[in-house]
Amino acid sequence: ILSLILIGVISYFWGSLPPGYWMGKLLRGKDFDIREHGSHKTGATNVLRTLGVGPAIVVFLLDLSKGVGPALLSRFVPAFQGGGWGILVAGLLALVGHCYPIFIGFKGGRGVLTGAGAMLVVSPLTFLIGAITTSSTIFLSRYVSLGSIVGSITTIVCGIVFYILGVNNPSLLHSIGLTLPEMLFMVIAPTMVILFHSDNIKRLLSGTERKIGSKKISTT
Ligand code: G3P
Repeated sequence: ILSLILIGVISYFWGSLPPGYWMGKLLRGKDFDIREHGSHKTGATNVLRTLGVGPAIVVFLLDLSKGVGPALLSRFVPAFQGGGWGILVAGLLALVGHCYPIFIGFKGGRGVLTGAGAMLVVSPLTFLIGAITTSSTIFLSRYVSLGSIVGSITTIVCGIVFYILGVNNPSLLHSIGLTLPEMLFMVIAPTMVILFHSDNIKRLLSGTERKIGSKKISTT
């Protein structure tokens, strides 16, 4: 249990690092707070609409790494494995850190990339499938938020399907099969991400969500 507490704390602080917020300060000066612009979030999407493509790519990779790092620690460092449950704690706490960062007043992003980074370690195949469904939804609809929601649903479905396949055929555990903590991560993390999109969902339903590449400012 001590190892779970330890990896949980490390992952939360790691996830709390806010590259999107720093990028704003770096490019626009110390009085600039990205959370006063666009969707008020620190994620790569808001960096894209507020600061441009280059900074968004950097933030995209750094946000992704905030999930990859803690997940790798929990997988490969014996002290953080917690009997296989370390991965669930690491992935969820990194995501919570990104959304409620201790360093900047607990106001961060929506956790898509940090969750996806951990997903890359848990199930590379799901990461790939999720990346395809997310990017094709964004390409077709030009709503990043809708893409994130579709990707989250894809992840939940993969988690349940791959877990059932693995239980029925344990030899799959080394390829696509999942342990119970891994499956739980693949259900809980995307559910949290969808909940963190509640304001986007309201805007999507009322037709006021901002499309990528559009200059129109959404009402909320
Ligand atoms: O990852 C967040 C994305 O799905 C939506 O971001 O800034 O448009 O609310 P944003």
